[in-house]
Amino acid sequence: MEMTPTAHNGANKGEIAKTVLMPGDPLRAKYIAETYLENPVKVTSVRNMLGFTGTYKGKELSVMGGGMGMPSMGIYSYELYHFYDVDQIIRIGSAGALQDHVKLMDVVIAMGACTDSNYAYQYGLPGTFAPTADYELLVKAVKAAEKQGTKVVVGNVLSSDIFYHHDSGVNDKWRSMGVLAVEMETAALYMNAAAAGKKALCLLTISDLIYGEEKLSALERQLGFGKMMEIALEL
Ligand code: ADE
Repeated sequence: MEMTPTAHNGANKGEIAKTVLMPGDPLRAKYIAETYLENPVKVTSVRNMLGFTGTYKGKELSVMGGGMGMPSMGIYSYELYHFYDVDQIIRIGSAGALQDHVKLMDVVIAMGACTDSNYAYQYGLPGTFAPTADYELLVKAVKAAEKQGTKVVVGNVLSSDIFYHHDSGVNDKWRSMGVLAVEMETAALYMNAAAAGKKALCLLTISDLIYGEEKLSALERQLGFGKMMEIALEL
């Protein structure tokens, strides 16, 4: 029997496209495949982390869940870059706004990703690594958004290991450094891409306000998600 390249992914080599869109939620991956791809085929379901390959406007494209947090994103993106010859991973996720000018449903593009995680420790660097987006993908995404008439906010995000903070003051500190929003995966993706010599970009829709009460309705959630998807599909 032919072995798949890794224990976490059931796809055979060659079954995953050079570009992978990566939402956190595997059911989101299924929804994207069924809604946006032509002829989607399920290529992996190990641990229910569903992955699909199909085409978009005739070009092969995959979509796969990445889970929550840097360890999960770290595993799946590492394997895609190293064992499946994937060239670029586009994370499509949600985040909480840290700035007053970043509103619900806004699309944020993570130019850089700060982190409170120790993920970079593995590289043994004599300083602090600054995880950044691939510049070409970033420019392409901004241009696609302009063409679609979608306002985007581009800048730094925080990839945190912690969703439920014990010390509620930590967000104030990141906010004071102009960090736009908090999520939990981008820094790991950008570091894996850098170490592999590959490309990555992270698009986020704002699902909650850290400094506000307002909440998204289900319809608004879907609308914000659609705007982000239209950009992601052009990459
Ligand atoms: N993803 C969406 N909202 C978030 C938040 N408030 N903190 C961390 N990750 C998030």
